[in-house]
Amino acid sequence: MQTSLAPSVTRALRLMAHFAAPLTAAVLPTSTPILASSSLATAASILQAGGLVAFPTETVYGLGASALSESAVAAIYTAKGRPGDNPLIVHVATRQMLVDLVPGGEAGIPAAYQALIEKFWPGPLSLIFSLAPSHHPPAKSAVVDAVRAGSPSVAIRMPSHPLALELIKLAGLPLAAPSANLSSRPSPTKAEHVAQDLGTGRGVGAILDGGDCVVGVESTVVDYHLSSGADGVERGEVRVLRAGGVSAEQIESCLAAAGLHGGAAARQQERVQVFNRDFVSAEMQARPTTPGMKYKHYSPSNSRVVLVQGVSGSAGAGLPSLVDVIASHQSRPPVGIATARVGLMLTMESHAELFPASHDPTALFQQLYLPGRPTERLDSYSFGSSRDAAESAQRLFAGLRTLDELIELPQAGHADAPAGTARGGVHYILLECIEEVGVGLAVMERARKAAGQSDVVHFRRG
Ligand code: TXA
Ligand code: MG
Repeated sequence: MQTSLAPSVTRALRLMAHFAAPLTAAVLPTSTPILASSSLATAASILQAGGLVAFPTETVYGLGASALSESAVAAIYTAKGRPGDNPLIVHVATRQMLVDLVPGGEAGIPAAYQALIEKFWPGPLSLIFSLAPSHHPPAKSAVVDAVRAGSPSVAIRMPSHPLALELIKLAGLPLAAPSANLSSRPSPTKAEHVAQDLGTGRGVGAILDGGDCVVGVESTVVDYHLSSGADGVERGEVRVLRAGGVSAEQIESCLAAAGLHGGAAARQQERVQVFNRDFVSAEMQARPTTPGMKYKHYSPSNSRVVLVQGVSGSAGAGLPSLVDVIASHQSRPPVGIATARVGLMLTMESHAELFPASHDPTALFQQLYLPGRPTERLDSYSFGSSRDAAESAQRLFAGLRTLDELIELPQAGHADAPAGTARGGVHYILLECIEEVGVGLAVMERARKAAGQSDVVHFRRG
């Protein structure tokens, strides 16, 4: 039997549906204390109603939802187009929230984690806790299965961004939050990046605008295992699965200071193993989780990322040059575009060395590096100082997005946009390799993934 609802009820239902899955995410400002508190209240109520809110953290923007709600967590995967086998990090704002999620509570937190929490929380460090049956009683509260994507463990972190902490406290919920980008795209470090990827038609209720993220690469993901050696003694192993905002060196010195690692004086010897630095594992590489190469990552939509080295000095002899690379990708630029648009992400020092102030960079670049290949335009996004990996980390994703998306590329076969009209994204982003120490390791892991499996290119004169 068909029942007809009063128009006011229909209207209310429509509004509710809009609230649950709005077409366009509201961008909530936080630039004054009054704006911040009303925006936080709005965002918290959306989360409590089971909706999605993108929020700033010190690393990158996260797409948050209640980790205790099946439908809210399902909506995260749908919004991002994220494969269902890639688990999410749970964000907490207090020690109590952590303790409630860990089997055995305080007693379930290993000594190595206690030391890392003391030193790096709140901050860019995610810790993986096993939920496998053990002598510990089960956790007081459990995140829904989809957060863990079938894994017998849960990753937890306490972000240091004041807006993130405030939002989690106001909502009173642990928040599952992956980076707030479409799956496979570079992570967002500005509210505009989130709006570009998820702002329309993706069911995101709001984007809390906290300006630029200061760290710029995601948290370090750490796992902990106990294993017994040949002598039958159990030893712990701290594994860095994903390099991130806290460096492997910082983790090692924290554990050493706590007497848990290094030196004969250490009261307990915990090994620190860094994926790709100290160990590789085909089995782990095949998994979708942290070190996984299973899915495409950090890829611009239009441009091809090419890693370059040897901007100064003669390192890299024997590697292909830019001319070789561009010649081997004749399909890019697309048919109909006779000239190459090149985007540079070089350190300040390399840029200054390549382009003396007295020269026109585009003309010089073409003459020296791409002879025979007209360079229509050269765009640059500084990769910061070569002496400061933290600056390169902060600029990495924003640079990739900026150079990639100045506008969509014209369709193949179309005449290129006439000079003076909107600027197109570049065909090639030449990204300089930086030293892999400290947060430089995290930067280079992301840079390599953005470049796919392609070779590093020697930046030598053509
Ligand atoms: O800095 C960050 O970590 C950001 C902000 C928003 O907090 N979040 C973030 O989330 O980068 P996402 O989903 O983009 O990356 C989380 C990583 C994934 O590689 C996932 O496989 C891994 O953490 N992960 C999550 N839970 C895991 C678990 N139980 N075991 C192993 N890896 C896990
Ligand atoms: Mg991500």
